[in-house]
Amino acid sequence: MSQPEIELPDALDVPRRGWLRGLFDRGAPDFVAQMHAAVAAIRSSRRPEYIAVFGGKGGAGKTTTTTGLGSVLAGVMRDRVVALDSNPDKGTLRLKFPAGQSARPLHLLAGRTGQLRSYSDLRPFLLSNGLGLDALTSSRHRDQAADGVVYAEILDFLTADYRMVVADCGTSATSDTAREVLSRATQLVVVTPAQIDGFYALLETLDELVDMRHRDLLGDAVAVINGIHESSSVDVDKIHADLKRRVRAVRRIPHDPHLAAGAAFDFAELQPATKVAYVELAATVTARFR
Ligand SMILES: Nc1ncnc2c1ncn2[C@@H]1O[C@H](COP(=O)(O)OP(=O)(O)OP(=O)(O)O)[C@@H](O)[C@H]1O
Ligand SMILES: [Mg+2]
Repeated sequence: MSQPEIELPDALDVPRRGWLRGLFDRGAPDFVAQMHAAVAAIRSSRRPEYIAVFGGKGGAGKTTTTTGLGSVLAGVMRDRVVALDSNPDKGTLRLKFPAGQSARPLHLLAGRTGQLRSYSDLRPFLLSNGLGLDALTSSRHRDQAADGVVYAEILDFLTADYRMVVADCGTSATSDTAREVLSRATQLVVVTPAQIDGFYALLETLDELVDMRHRDLLGDAVAVINGIHESSSVDVDKIHADLKRRVRAVRRIPHDPHLAAGAAFDFAELQPATKVAYVELAATVTARFR
């Protein structure tokens, strides 16, 4: 039985009608069924989802993946989604959001979440993008980093207003901040660049997760191989196969000129293949929502 086409916001179309059909042409009918199932699952789910994004190496693409995944979840699912800068080492999530907005950094929420009465009280702390993804971001000053206690408070508070929190964690699973995120995580996304050293660095982070008894979360995780250049000499299939033995699914994000520029993330500016890759990533992650 054919399913009705999913209605998407304009910014997600690649182009307006043809892009899902394009996936059929590429032989990916499962994807469309998966998207329908994911949308249905999210709409019927009541459990807040905490998606923790980890990498192994600086510059692996954690913040970009957080923003891309969060944007698609917010856009396709028309649901309240917030990205949370959880990188204890000078997070840069704010740089992925359109310039010209100002938001108070999240460390100023310390001890104050109890005084926030409604979503509008949180508004001065939020950035937002064209697909409706909100973000709580950290200060540009390293000495204003928030500690684990603040994150515990924020993480618990956010699910009053948001169905999904996508946390941009750093490279270490053992920091106080990472522990707070991991203790609540319902989904894990692990990111490697399409480079050997970055891949080995990610494996070290995965070992930390195993040592911390997060084996189940890891076994159910989605791995992202980020920034794949067509001309690269790296054996991406080998990285893919190695990761597949450790996690539930592996997704590939191409190298994209818009992302390489390092400006604010604008879904509409991505190459069609990159758009599809992010939507596939979102569908894969959401397939496990309950
Ligand atoms: N798929 C991609 N194609 C091209 N450039 C990319 C891609 N993904 C990320 N980049 C660029 O690579 C740089 C590093 O990405 P990002 O900031 O997401 O990494 P990170 O893992 O969060 O780094 P950090 O460890 O500093 O937090 C950024 O300039 C980003 O725009
Ligand atoms: Mg980052």
